[in-house]
Amino acid sequence: MSQLVILLGPPGAGKGTQARTLTEHLGIPHISSGDLFREHVAARTELGKNAQSYLDQGLLVPDDVTIGMIEDRLARPDCAQGALLDGFPRTVAQAEALDRILAERGEKILLVAKIAVEPEILVRRLSGRRTCRKAGHIFHTEHSPPKKPGVCDVDGSELIQREDDRPATVEKRIRVYNERTAPLEAYYRDHGLVVEFDGERPMAEVTEAVLREIRQRTPG
Ligand code: AP5
Repeated sequence: MSQLVILLGPPGAGKGTQARTLTEHLGIPHISSGDLFREHVAARTELGKNAQSYLDQGLLVPDDVTIGMIEDRLARPDCAQGALLDGFPRTVAQAEALDRILAERGEKILLVAKIAVEPEILVRRLSGRRTCRKAGHIFHTEHSPPKKPGVCDVDGSELIQREDDRPATVEKRIRVYNERTAPLEAYYRDHGLVVEFDGERPMAEVTEAVLREIRQRTPG
């Protein structure tokens, strides 16, 4: 797993947006814990039934459930050359579990890309975000509107507002991020892995900056 990249940042920072482009450039899979949970909820699996109330309330799903789900995903063959982790780890316990999983395989994290955006902008981004029902393609009513309102440019499916993008839940998610996930930055800084990117720049500029950093760190 030569390219294990973690995208770290608050809700609405642009992790999913960046990951969807980076995965095409790098040829490694995009693993979003949020997308995996939403797939389980839609498919009404046991895991999904368990996770749903946490998602709806903007709370974190318990660590044991989340770690097991990501460990299974990372064991799939498409992760042999690396992966882009979006939304995981989100607690120090998850970060420690990831270290253990990687150590068992003799692998290391290449980069923790922190995407920084001011809180007022996060709220505006999340209230205007629309995602496609079929594959989660991401749009914004002002910053990246679809060609036809309410319809995904990529696959023609309906664009919806995520349940957890309602204002009260957004505030809770940002609070949970500050309490539970922001401490991870210090954890990874101690390991010399964090580079901060200005997530308020245009999307393509953020992508270019992250790609440059990944290429500089990739041996050979
Ligand atoms: P998850 O799906 O991971 O949500 P999140 O981390 O809150 O992140 P978002 O998807 O809201 O934001 P994003 O940074 O991807 O922004 P986006 O690119 O869409 O998690 C959801 C829930 O699942 C959690 O609350 C929790 O319950 C559970 N969960 C997930 N992982 C977990 C874990 N590890 N442990 C426990 N529980 C877990 O961009 C936002 C908007 O901004 C879009 O409209 C986009 O078009 C726009 N935009 C993006 N970049 C720019 C830019 N540069 N300029 C202008 N607009 C931009």
